[in-house]
Amino acid sequence: MGLTFIAIKPDGVHRGLVGEIIARFEKRGLKLCALKVVVPEKAIAEKHYEEHAGKPFYPGLVDYLCSGPIVAMVWSGKDVVAVTRKMIGATKPAQSEPGTIRGDLALDMGRNVIHGSDSDDSAQREIKLWFKEEEVCSKYVKADRMWVYEVTDEHTH
Ligand code: GTP
Ligand code: MG
Repeated sequence: MGLTFIAIKPDGVHRGLVGEIIARFEKRGLKLCALKVVVPEKAIAEKHYEEHAGKPFYPGLVDYLCSGPIVAMVWSGKDVVAVTRKMIGATKPAQSEPGTIRGDLALDMGRNVIHGSDSDDSAQREIKLWFKEEEVCSKYVKADRMWVYEVTDEHTH
């Protein structure tokens, strides 16, 4: 069952891009399983980006994530990690294709609006870091499922 962790970063919240970004995932057919607005604690932000610990941009990255509220979400769907990473676009906005979230809405790598898990393992780790188990509603069946998926059974989304 595919789940991913997505966060609209503080610049996305301050710039009023929350609705636009959520609408893109909804229109794609993905299922919203969890959502909350939270100002990240430093320890959680450090853990979230621990793969980058020691790199020169790490302290600034952690401060950026903690600089205001983020919208933390869990989305589900077929190939959700690959699909959402593609929708988000390349890390450097100059290399993000038009049509992607960063390619349409960002200019600076240090203010690139949104985070998405880069693998199923990262998604599991990040969902656990940001949400309690009971906050994630992944079991419900979306009403449009038979129109989004060719084949549906109890194991699909
Ligand atoms: P996330 O979805 O936020 O994890 O971005 P990503 O997976 O596209 O990129 P990555 O995990 O490699 O880097 C995490 C974040 O660190 C990026 O989104 C950037 O905001 C920032 N970052 C990465 N590399 C650099 C860098 O070389 N310089 C600076 N200033 N920031 C960087
Ligand atoms: Mg990353």
